[in-house]
Amino acid sequence: MKLITWLLALLLLVVMAVGGIIWSGGYNIAADEPHWPLTEDLVETLRDRSIAARQSGADMPDLDDESLIRAGAGNYDAMCDGCHLEPGEDSTELSMGLYPAPPDLTMEHIEDPAEAFWVIKHGIKMTGMPAWGKSMDDASIWGMVAFIRKLPEMSEAGYHELVVSSEGHTHGQADANDAREESATVHVHADGSEHVHED
Ligand code: HEC
Repeated sequence: MKLITWLLALLLLVVMAVGGIIWSGGYNIAADEPHWPLTEDLVETLRDRSIAARQSGADMPDLDDESLIRAGAGNYDAMCDGCHLEPGEDSTELSMGLYPAPPDLTMEHIEDPAEAFWVIKHGIKMTGMPAWGKSMDDASIWGMVAFIRKLPEMSEAGYHELVVSSEGHTHGQADANDAREESATVHVHADGSEHVHED
């Protein structure tokens, strides 16, 4: 037989084996069962290459602008800290259970703001990282990028001060941090539009 016939037969076998594993239910989809190291390496490379090919720093504002950072603080505290944590926090029930685990943004320095912007806007498939561009405009997303760049240097008190003084986000109650889960949360976006979350 020609080599090509052997190769095609081999390919068919591989496809059938993979199909068999999928159909039999043999693969464990549970989030509390880690990937094999090889799968993890492959997925990480896929993610990094995919983001690198798509991100662009176009329209990047001045990320040291105080008012931009302040606006980002309110939004981060309302929508991100459950997964990415606040200064002084080691984990939340949500962050603990997610796989892949969300990076602790109070420890991790954002190296490339354009990549962070892309990830926040578009999310990452099959990870729990949502695409915030569906509900937020670019200016608000840049605000969060500006904020998370400063987050690793922030103290607990500094974090809360900034969140409370943030005009980009208003909580139903003054003690935003303890009452957040029970309170209705009003989002004010950069274009002036508002919406209310009944938590
Ligand atoms: C439900 C949990 C969840 C929420 C809420 C969430 N994220 Fe994420 N985020 C993730 C996970 C999980 C990843 C890591 C995905 C991966 O491993 O590729 C991630 C990744 C990121 C990254 C990339 C970090 C890096 O080191 O590459 C940034 C930046 C980020 N999130 C910002 C945000 C911001 C800002 C918000 C709020 C608007 C937010 N996330 C809300 C789960 C979440």
